[in-house]
Amino acid sequence: MDILQSLDKNKMPKHIAIIMDGNGRWAKEQGQDRLYGHYEGVRSVRDIVDACGELGISYLTLYAFSTENWNRPKEEVDALMELLVNTIRKEADELMKNNVRMHVIGDFKSLPAICQKELSEAMDMMANNTGLNLVLALSYSSRWEIVDAAKKMVADALAGKLKQEDIDDKVFHNYLNTASFPDPELMIRTSGEYRISNYLLYQLAYAELYFTPVHWPAFRRQNLYEAILNYQQRERRFGKTSEQIQTNTTQHV
Ligand code: FPP
Repeated sequence: MDILQSLDKNKMPKHIAIIMDGNGRWAKEQGQDRLYGHYEGVRSVRDIVDACGELGISYLTLYAFSTENWNRPKEEVDALMELLVNTIRKEADELMKNNVRMHVIGDFKSLPAICQKELSEAMDMMANNTGLNLVLALSYSSRWEIVDAAKKMVADALAGKLKQEDIDDKVFHNYLNTASFPDPELMIRTSGEYRISNYLLYQLAYAELYFTPVHWPAFRRQNLYEAILNYQQRERRFGKTSEQIQTNTTQHV
């Protein structure tokens, strides 16, 4: 049976976060240079965005460029930025047609001016769309985000807008870049690495983690369906016992 048919439509994650890893290794396996892997990686982005839209997923967050990625060779960084600009230009109309709304998290001001312009225009254009929220993590790292939140909180406290005793996890969440998004329930990392790599550390507190050896350029919708099916087979306890979860489920049926 097609794996898509096996998915329980009532148990879809609202928010999926992905670490798109393995572009370079995939390209090497094909006897190509790293950039070829990134270009092919864009095809996977397109397929996964379309699939998430069709499945009715509300949020998809993609780790497209980390704070640490600035340390890669300049030619690769420049090529990735150019690829980003070209992809947004090429895909914006299609994303619009599919009712996708785009967001960016990360140190936006550190991106090249042309990227900022292209992204801002695309986000403005899609601002009223009501379908999939596509969140691009660009020049992003969790530690940067958490430190940034701490700085903003201190500034608000000094301005008399925030009291120490009012700070709880909800208030803290409001200072993160992801303030307006729910936490991901499912985090997928491709390419066989078992790390979180400074990605959404606060937000992934209760996420189910799914690791696959498939490199990102080879990761397509069938692989996504497999990840979701695996997620749906897990018991999410949030610190409770299995018996409590079973009882609650029965009570709510
Ligand atoms: C990780 O593979 C991938 C990246 C650092 C870049 C991801 C970017 C894209 C898929 C294309 C642009 C994205 C958008 C949203 C337009 P790696 O280079 O670390 O692979 P390796 O670990 O095998 O070297």
